[in-house]
Amino acid sequence: MTRRNNPLPRFQRLLSRAKKTGLREPAAMILATADPQGRPSVRTVLLKEVDARGFAFYTNLRSRKGRELAANPRAALCFYWEPLEAQVIVEGGVKPISRREADAYWATRPRESQIAAWSSLQSKPLSRRTLLLARFARYARRFAGRPVPRPPDWAGLRVVPDRIEFWRRRPFRLHERQLYVRQGSRWKVRRLYP
Ligand SMILES: Cc1cc2nc3c(=O)[nH]c(=O)nc-3n(C[C@H](O)[C@H](O)[C@H](O)COP(=O)(O)O)c2cc1C
Repeated sequence: MTRRNNPLPRFQRLLSRAKKTGLREPAAMILATADPQGRPSVRTVLLKEVDARGFAFYTNLRSRKGRELAANPRAALCFYWEPLEAQVIVEGGVKPISRREADAYWATRPRESQIAAWSSLQSKPLSRRTLLLARFARYARRFAGRPVPRPPDWAGLRVVPDRIEFWRRRPFRLHERQLYVRQGSRWKVRRLYP
């Protein structure tokens, strides 16, 4: 893949700039999925890794997004970095991250977050918050004195981009848009009217 037309280094440069702006969650991205009937849904997730393989995030596969992606493995991502006056939109297919990689990332998570993952009955109705706290205490006891294993439904997914659009604010609403479309192993880039 020629470096000149590769949107990835451009995205990585923007993300490292966003990390220097003081934003609390510079890696936050809006993840859009759709059910098999085409009904869309969105939520925020954190980008954990980005490289030539795609944009990786972790989630519970029993969540709405997890179920929608199992049935319809395509997603769109949207980053908006207000201090940079920049937006990036990514679209692509979604692939599971290997268990080994997911285990490795799980091991870096704080113990409390690991126990919290076990405590959540992902997206099921919760009548009282104390029930969640009681489950947290129960799992903290269950795993006392040993590493917390990765729950079977807690997994990583990767959006493999086939389109990436960069938007940059410019004066008089003459904003800049550049769309990269993957064609085989290459990317074609073109400007779009704002
Ligand atoms: C800043 C921020 C970061 C989040 N990061 C994640 C994440 O990395 N993975 C995740 O599953 N949920 C994350 N969430 C929670 C999701 O937005 C969402 O509430 C949850 O995953 C259930 O989504 P669903 O029912 O649409 O599947 C985050 C929320 C916020 C506000």
